[in-house]
Amino acid sequence: MANSIGAVDYSTSIPNNVDLAGDRRVLRALERWHPNYLDWWKDMGPEGFQEALVYLRTAVSVDREGWATFDYVKMPDYRWGILLAPQEEGRTIPFGQHKGEPVWQEVPGEYRALLRRLIVIQGDTEPASVEQQRHLGATAPSLYDLRNLFQVNVEEGRHLWAMVYLLQKYFGADGREEAEDLLRRRSGHEDSPRMLGAFNERTPDWLSFFMFTFFTDRDGKMQLESLAQSGFDPLSRTCRFMLMEEAHHMFVGERGVGRIIQRTAEAMNEAGITDPYDVERIRALGVIDLPTLQRKANLHYALTLDLFGNELSTNAANAFNSGIKGRFRETYIDDDHLLLDATYPVLRYQDGAFVEVQEPALQALNMRLRDDYIADTAQGIARWNKILNDRGIAFEITLPHQAFHRQIGTFAGLLVSPTGEVLSEAEWAKAEGDFLPSPADATFIQSLMVPVTGSGEYASWIAPPRVGIDNKGGDFEYVQLAA
Ligand SMILES: [Fe+2]
Ligand SMILES: [Fe+2]
Repeated sequence: MANSIGAVDYSTSIPNNVDLAGDRRVLRALERWHPNYLDWWKDMGPEGFQEALVYLRTAVSVDREGWATFDYVKMPDYRWGILLAPQEEGRTIPFGQHKGEPVWQEVPGEYRALLRRLIVIQGDTEPASVEQQRHLGATAPSLYDLRNLFQVNVEEGRHLWAMVYLLQKYFGADGREEAEDLLRRRSGHEDSPRMLGAFNERTPDWLSFFMFTFFTDRDGKMQLESLAQSGFDPLSRTCRFMLMEEAHHMFVGERGVGRIIQRTAEAMNEAGITDPYDVERIRALGVIDLPTLQRKANLHYALTLDLFGNELSTNAANAFNSGIKGRFRETYIDDDHLLLDATYPVLRYQDGAFVEVQEPALQALNMRLRDDYIADTAQGIARWNKILNDRGIAFEITLPHQAFHRQIGTFAGLLVSPTGEVLSEAEWAKAEGDFLPSPADATFIQSLMVPVTGSGEYASWIAPPRVGIDNKGGDFEYVQLAA
């Protein structure tokens, strides 16, 4: 409880494999930070559920038995551990000018500022998503989904701990200051917003939540994959463990949207509706029509592509060259891992057409990661379409053109349709309602957001899961609401 914080035995209450007990300096820094973290969690974490007992997965160690132990826990009592993937004997830096040298166990002085910035940017996204999602508990479509939301939330909280540990352990007074700032910024705040655009958007409903975890958590996965390649070994090991949790977040998003698609398809079949654009009749069934799902996907995809930054970036080149941030699956790529003379095709809009232009590969690393992201995303979209196909519904969810609705990079300012036509302002204004969610879509989705809190009950617009969590059924009491 809050008044016993001073008595917490941090070396044992924080599951860790970094010998916290033997590291007085970091232990003291964490002890000072923890009450502020809890204040933040109570202020900005899931609203109205701080006393509920939630069936959560806690990582108490990184081995097979320990990394996923399930039990009921009140979220403020969650054991936010500091866990790094095991150290690899003899690991060397896999890319850049230091390729082949032993990995660093301490921060190299010349890369200190660069590393700190990357860790802070990654760290900032973790609490941001918790803040974005804090009102969703009130309208959960089932206890199963409520539990999954909270699982994602506590793990994003743990990811913040992971980044704060690195800051406090390796960056001295600067790191401690950054750790406090990570608790100070607020998603969507006018004066001190979170650092990246998509993390200041609202997550007003569960469809937005599932789309966010599908599209935007996947950007997180790509960033973590790149940082997991880092020559700074503590960062690499931290990210490798975070990726195990991140997989669940994308599962929540992909299956969440998948279950919505399934329910819509089933309802259409039951009602004998074959035209997916017969929106009014479909909505009257209490399910979400597929064109609306497509518009939501368009929005979240475009917002997420912006997170990859400018197509050409000197910062990205420096981070690679110095061995700090690699490429997606760097060690599986068959090239020299130096890229000094290599080129990479970058999509541009030139003379009225989209063309690929060969650019220096080092400068184009953001573009490359974005391409890897798009390929990864497309696999999930194909699984959504299989759900429709299996049920005989003639509709295909598609990824919009990369230039659609972009705010950052070479396509910012262009008005481009999802199919890649460049439009005039008048054409855009006329068609925007077909491309992006409208206020009327939002109102309709809001009308479906009524809480369903009975064990085994599900809202009208989402199918139950095929299997539950931890081998429990879909009717397990995943959350025990406080009396
Ligand atoms: Fe995360
Ligand atoms: Fe995540």
